[in-house]
Amino acid sequence: MKILGIETSCDETAAAVVADGVGILSNQIASQVEIHARYGGIVPEVASRQHILAIIPIIEQAMAQAKATWGDLDGIAVTMGPGLAGSLLVGVNTAKAIALARGLPITGVNHLEGHIYANWLGNYTPHFPLVCLIVSGGHSDLVLVKGHGDYIVLGRTRDDAAGEAFDKAARILGLGYPGGPAIEQAARAGTASLKLARAWLRGTSDFSFSGVKAELLRLVEKGKVSLSASQGSELITAADAAASFQEAVIDVLVTKTIEAARERRVKQILLAGGVASNELLRRRMVENSPIPVLVPELVLCTDNAAMIAACGYHRFQAGRIAGLDLDVIPSLRLA
Ligand code: KG4
Ligand code: ZN
Repeated sequence: MKILGIETSCDETAAAVVADGVGILSNQIASQVEIHARYGGIVPEVASRQHILAIIPIIEQAMAQAKATWGDLDGIAVTMGPGLAGSLLVGVNTAKAIALARGLPITGVNHLEGHIYANWLGNYTPHFPLVCLIVSGGHSDLVLVKGHGDYIVLGRTRDDAAGEAFDKAARILGLGYPGGPAIEQAARAGTASLKLARAWLRGTSDFSFSGVKAELLRLVEKGKVSLSASQGSELITAADAAASFQEAVIDVLVTKTIEAARERRVKQILLAGGVASNELLRRRMVENSPIPVLVPELVLCTDNAAMIAACGYHRFQAGRIAGLDLDVIPSLRLA
């Protein structure tokens, strides 16, 4: 079964063709990151307009890379939420137009569910029940997955999402946008010498990262962290601060994920979302977990359409086909 996946929930216009929910025949992504970097963050109106420009060429590229004709496809899976309304509309309306023109069935995919399904695109099939940590720009969710499409959200962020915290910390440290890769890169040259406070929220699987970000801001404002100091000076450098921040966030993510996985006696831990491309997070989770850990390939952690097609495959298998009245739900939740 060949599915065309379409993803436009945020700032990446993406299309992919996936066979049987596991085999990537093509995976095309047009990133808008350079455009939004000028503004230090995503400008929703700009994002929608860029999606309109990129969507048709990126679908054509995905079809060409997969050497697929419209007749080869069995269905279309498109992200319907959560995300930016104007961005989601471009993907959903394009998908509906193709479905109508080519007589193909269509299914609407939850973007977060898509992130989980990136784990089915590797060489190893995940086993249920499992716990998945979804850490992206908008979410830090710990999800118990009992079977395909069967989710219980165990915990979520109470304030900033993990990726959002990385983005804000990078801005505080003058490291640019997007913040996750910038912090990770800067941290390589530093040591985690600052012991930043962790919000454990004991007895829950919820997260909170606004405190650690605020502490970092206070230290910079008080001149305890010097953004211009070089390595070897008396002052704490931006690299040390980046390493300390990364350490604090990852410590909480790893500890709480393993705790939840043990409590629920699951067979596997999965990582998903843009922050899951962080090397330290991946390594720490694998090193510390007594339960096998599965992580998607780097390019499948950040937004892409292959994960949407993989998820769509399981929805089609379950008979979950949408009508042409399929609409976007910007605040769509999991479960
Ligand atoms: O999943 P994603 O591509 O888009 C959303 O659905 O939000 O995640 C983007 C987020 C951004 O906040 C970005 O800073 C963060 O993931 N991110 C990282 C890394 N790469 C991307 N955070 C930490 N370390 C990274 N290497
Ligand atoms: Zn995402």
